[in-house]
Amino acid sequence: MKWYLINTKQRFRFALRNPIYSLKAAARELALADERFLAALTGTRALQVRRFLQEPFETSEFLAHLRTCEDVFRQGMVSADMWAKKVLVQYAAVRALRPETVVETGVASGVSSAYLLLALQRNQKGVLHSVEVGDSSYLPPGQQTGWLVPEWLRTRWRLHIGDAAELLPGLLQGIGPVDMFIHDSSHTYEQMKFEFELARPHIKRGGLLLADDALWNPAFVEFARTDSSPASAIIRGVGVLKT
Ligand SMILES: C[S@@+](CC[C@H](N)C(=O)[O-])C[C@H]1O[C@@H](n2cnc3c(N)ncnc32)[C@H](O)[C@@H]1O
Repeated sequence: MKWYLINTKQRFRFALRNPIYSLKAAARELALADERFLAALTGTRALQVRRFLQEPFETSEFLAHLRTCEDVFRQGMVSADMWAKKVLVQYAAVRALRPETVVETGVASGVSSAYLLLALQRNQKGVLHSVEVGDSSYLPPGQQTGWLVPEWLRTRWRLHIGDAAELLPGLLQGIGPVDMFIHDSSHTYEQMKFEFELARPHIKRGGLLLADDALWNPAFVEFARTDSSPASAIIRGVGVLKT
């Protein structure tokens, strides 16, 4: 199944409410714009990136698992989307870069963690460190942090419960160089700036810094402007910066 055929009703309703955004997104799809950018950053071909974007939906066990979680997931954050292309962008980046060490902040139900772990499993290498403060207001009633991550993907997962401000410095010191850092905790300007500045020196040359919802405030744009990065852009709301 093609990714854009999943969740069609919700996508259609979104397109009606946001026609200009949706037309631009369709044009980007046709031009393979996101794929070209990710390919250039990771030394892959655009068509290969497109195949990566499709993979989670061709992995029947993963697709079936997400489907079983859908009803419970909807009882949590209303704005969250299990099938959004922005999560697929993270998935494709991991597949293309083939990282040893990935760090993400912000887990909630564990949508991004599940996709990232699937990518590591397909790569047959790498570990994901996830830092989450454990705020239950992001979760459906009665669920634990990361409840959506299937058991069969957890061997490569290290979940650290605590505030990123307290845990990240020690974690980044302790695990050695990082290939990918992904921000998806609190999207305040201060938190984003703090995480970018803290993580940046720990990311290997040729690695990636990603920021979900990078358009919510100027933190990513400002950081990218002052960084010596060879390339950065915001695609599908995800800030991507090559180190
Ligand atoms: C947008 S949600 C994460 C969504 C998740 N990446 C996904 O794809 O399902 C943001 C999460 O960040 C967590 N969070 C907020 N501030 C944090 C902090 N200072 N340290 C660690 N986690 C934080 C919240 O508890 C929440 O679960």
